[in-house]
Amino acid sequence: MVKSVLFVCLGNICRSPLAEAAFSREARRLGLDVDIDSAGTGTWHIGHPPDSRASAVAARNGVDIAHLRARQVTADDFRRFDYIVALDAENLTDLRRMRPADGKAELSLLLDHVEGRVGQAVADPYYGGEEHFDVTWSDVTEGAKGLARRIAGR
Ligand code: 4NP
Repeated sequence: MVKSVLFVCLGNICRSPLAEAAFSREARRLGLDVDIDSAGTGTWHIGHPPDSRASAVAARNGVDIAHLRARQVTADDFRRFDYIVALDAENLTDLRRMRPADGKAELSLLLDHVEGRVGQAVADPYYGGEEHFDVTWSDVTEGAKGLARRIAGR
């Protein structure tokens, strides 16, 4: 059965598009059939492309994310997606608050899927420098690998 995964951060222009890209690559590598998307809890960047520093780190790692556009999480996402994966604890709290009664999605933190990193956040790189985006890429890649293995049942 095709599974669906939504990655959620605050702006949907830095961390969650990178998580989406890293997870897409990992799913392809494992031959997983999954629907993948990302969204933000905030409204500021709706319709915007990823932050140029996020696009740059993705490009440095061989992935193009420049075509993505930010959107906000909706109540329907909780019915549509099997997994909604938050990038930090604040995102997770916001998601729990907005979850509709008939929402079926399983909520988690991305790094919950990494041994030894349960409960950890993928830090917000927005006010940081280029080097923070390298840490973001490394974190989302680790999380994506763990999540993909879990969904694949390996
Ligand atoms: P993201 O990063 O949640 O990883 O997309 C941010 C993007 C924008 C803002 C904060 C974080 N902002 O305050 O506009």
